[in-house]
Amino acid sequence: MAQDLIAGIAKDRLEKLAQREAKRYATARPTAKAALAKGADAYLGGVPLHWMTDWPMPHLPLVARAKGARLTDIDGYEIDDFCLGDTGSMFGHSPAPVAKAIRAQAPRGLTYMLPTEDALAAGRLLQEVFGPFRWQIATTATDANRFAIRVARAITGRPKILVFNGCYHGTVDDVMVELSGGKTQNRQGLMGQVADLTLGATAVEFNDLTAVEAALKTGEIAAILTEPVMTNSCMVLPDAGFHDGLRLLSRRYGALLIIDETHTISSGLGGYTAVHSLSPDIFVVGKCVAGGLPTAVWGLSDETAKRYEEANAKRAPGHSGMGTTLSANPLQFACLKATLGEVMTAKNYAHMEKLAERLSHGLAEVIARHKAPWHVVRVGARVEFTEAGHAHQPQAEAALHTALLNRGSLIAPFHNMMLVSPATKKRQVDRLITAFNDVLTELFS
Ligand SMILES: Cc1ncc(COP(=O)(O)O)c(C=O)c1O
Repeated sequence: MAQDLIAGIAKDRLEKLAQREAKRYATARPTAKAALAKGADAYLGGVPLHWMTDWPMPHLPLVARAKGARLTDIDGYEIDDFCLGDTGSMFGHSPAPVAKAIRAQAPRGLTYMLPTEDALAAGRLLQEVFGPFRWQIATTATDANRFAIRVARAITGRPKILVFNGCYHGTVDDVMVELSGGKTQNRQGLMGQVADLTLGATAVEFNDLTAVEAALKTGEIAAILTEPVMTNSCMVLPDAGFHDGLRLLSRRYGALLIIDETHTISSGLGGYTAVHSLSPDIFVVGKCVAGGLPTAVWGLSDETAKRYEEANAKRAPGHSGMGTTLSANPLQFACLKATLGEVMTAKNYAHMEKLAERLSHGLAEVIARHKAPWHVVRVGARVEFTEAGHAHQPQAEAALHTALLNRGSLIAPFHNMMLVSPATKKRQVDRLITAFNDVLTELFS
């Protein structure tokens, strides 16, 4: 009789592993369990951010502290952190220059609605690291993308943003669409959204330049908004010539090209844009750009900046719909300056690249050894193993993630993503590969 398989794993073996590892986790963390029982009720659903319910463990650990690539929880476990706050801490937890910058700024005021000398230094560094864009500071990458979209619509006078099916650019309502049966529709699962988002966004498949051109030909597209690599839909790499095609077509049809580097900043110094010589009209990056302090930046190319100024000069008085009160505060500038100047360095990226290659190679070897129907994809410091066909397999992911955590390694709760920071050690990478091998031995041999 054919076996029941999940992600290529025999269902009974997976269930056995899942049950044992869940029990092991829960037994090992009585302090967190008791604390949560006393304090988590204040939060809707028992968590301060509902995304935290995506973690697969029977209950959450409570973090006591984090430093470099290591978390310590209140039950005393030291955990090798490959999730790194889902990229917010990609350069390690509290990098020394950033911690120092926070200590220096803390007694000097936290938000003024006025710039500082650090703001000027950070602006110069943004241009050095990412290119000669004209910058604005936001607090989240979601906001940065929202503002980039506004600018694109304002200067082209067109309504729609072209995005790729399965993309994620933050909780930007405007582009919460997907393809279904070849048609763009509001994403399933969107809560409380009553607007017809297809009036302002069109989705096509990534790597499908024919569909991109067909959408651009309508004359309705203000901008293409894309990650250089689709990191939020497993990891879909661009086909050869895809980015050149996007640039060519967007220019031909008068649309802007917005590149969202929030995750692909893992590619190397300056992000995928610098490493692969892309030339976006608007560049967006957030999450780790200020070393973990909530900050995002969006930059306009010279020509786009000129067009923006013209559009701005012509607009009616009143609110532009862009900006938030606490953005561009002095603490952000202090952390941006420290991160761009001392943390986001070629030397640190070289370390990340080398260890991520070791991790990727090690995981691929384990997968091959066990003939698992999985493969590994890497974009610089970002590594992901995925099941064949790129399908998410939540049941398999949950069992595997808990089993890895019980062996001391934390990977992201969203798909099977791992990040390597400048603080990550070779031994941490090797421990994760060994744990992965342990688990696959049980599941496949
Ligand atoms: C590519 C990309 N852009 C933007 C965002 C939004 O970032 P934030 O949640 O910090 O606003 C994300 C978040 O995962 C992302 O993956």
